Amino acid sequence: MATSESTTTLPGDPAPPDELRVGVIGLGFAGTTHLDAFTALPGARVVALAGQEPARLAELADTRGVESRYADWQDLVARDDLDIVSIGVPNDLHHPIAVAALSSGKHVFCEKPLAVNGDLAQEMVDAARAADRVLEVAYNHRRRTDVQWLRRHLDSRPFGDIYHSRASWMRRTGIPGLGSWFTSRTAAGGGPLIDLGSHVLDIALFLLDEPRVTSVSAVAYDRLGTAGRGGSTRGVSERRDFPYEVEDFASALLRLDNGASLHLEASWASYSKADEDIEVDLLGATGGARLHVDNYSTTDTLTLYSDVAGAPTVSRPRLTDPGRHHQAVIAEFLAAIALGEQVPAGQPRHTGHYGEFALHRSRVLDAVYSSAAERREVEVVR
Ligand SMILES: NC(=O)c1ccc[n+]([C@@H]2O[C@H](COP(=O)([O-])OP(=O)(O)OC[C@H]3O[C@@H](n4cnc5c(N)ncnc54)[C@H](O)[C@@H]3O)[C@@H](O)[C@H]2O)c1
Repeated sequence: MATSESTTTLPGDPAPPDELRVGVIGLGFAGTTHLDAFTALPGARVVALAGQEPARLAELADTRGVESRYADWQDLVARDDLDIVSIGVPNDLHHPIAVAALSSGKHVFCEKPLAVNGDLAQEMVDAARAADRVLEVAYNHRRRTDVQWLRRHLDSRPFGDIYHSRASWMRRTGIPGLGSWFTSRTAAGGGPLIDLGSHVLDIALFLLDEPRVTSVSAVAYDRLGTAGRGGSTRGVSERRDFPYEVEDFASALLRLDNGASLHLEASWASYSKADEDIEVDLLGATGGARLHVDNYSTTDTLTLYSDVAGAPTVSRPRLTDPGRHHQAVIAEFLAAIALGEQVPAGQPRHTGHYGEFALHRSRVLDAVYSSAAERREVEVVR
């Protein structure tokens, strides 16, 4: 292996020994984004790719220089020369793939939601802890520049106590492929709440400094999806014979352990003005903030509210870069793996690297679904 400083690695070259060897599973938006992010970052090399669309598998592997291709995830995970398995497949496959990969000593980068329910998410976190491997979850929208900037701004408590927040992701006509796995309760675990709501829940809990959600009162409806309305063409998976079994709109009031509250809302389809709008509002005792994203690449998304010399004041931070999203969370994942190598054997890795934050989000989503089904307030499992 050539090691001179001027060496250029070409797609298809074997990975040098110090590069982490990555296997990516999934060829849709998620898998392709993982493939491109790992390819763009130093320190990792995608050497294996799996997915069930043969033409797309060949095209992605050829254009990105990936040596090994598989139709099924089990053949990829069975390899003993991979350091990382990256999961971009339907939600119900996250758990079996992650547990198999972690138990065979691989680090795992997994798409959100961590699993289709909290109990399976717990098993994944347990598997990561038992194997002392990093389990990171693709909450990429939290890595937006505006969200990161606002989190740093909140360190100085500019709004006093934040007593109530709102977090929503609303689509007008965005059911991801009527008949695809996304609308199957077994394959997806839920509808827009688990798909989009999990992202805005993640953003809100991050901004609020990770309070625990203690209880939930929620409603969920499926009026448009079951009537065949509100569909869009998303996803590369070719099966289109799944029934519509999930909500198309959910709304929940969450109580937090610090006494504050959070209103969470998500729709794939709704007769509303929104069409792919992410909104987060923070209401504090001495000020507030609003994040409104209606296009992933815009930067004029933040508005801050306060009083200056007794007069209500509005300011708009001027950020210049929307951020790298998936690439940023994968860079953090690679850094956590590197940091872990320095932790003496038997010592716990830095808290949070076994997927614990994502587990709490899964427990909250479970409580929302239970509350909506049982029409009562439900406690979140610790
Ligand atoms: N973080 C984000 O912004 C974001 C965006 C979109 C999707 N996602 C998540 O990513 C995941 C995938 O979503 P998508 O939109 O890419 O889905 P998709 O339907 O477009 O692609 C799913 C892929 O999984 C592959 N697959 C299914 N069964 C397999 C098996 N047994 N072995 C190997 N491959 C298999 C399919 O062949 C397909 O390539 C979901 O968990 C979804 O929630 C996250």
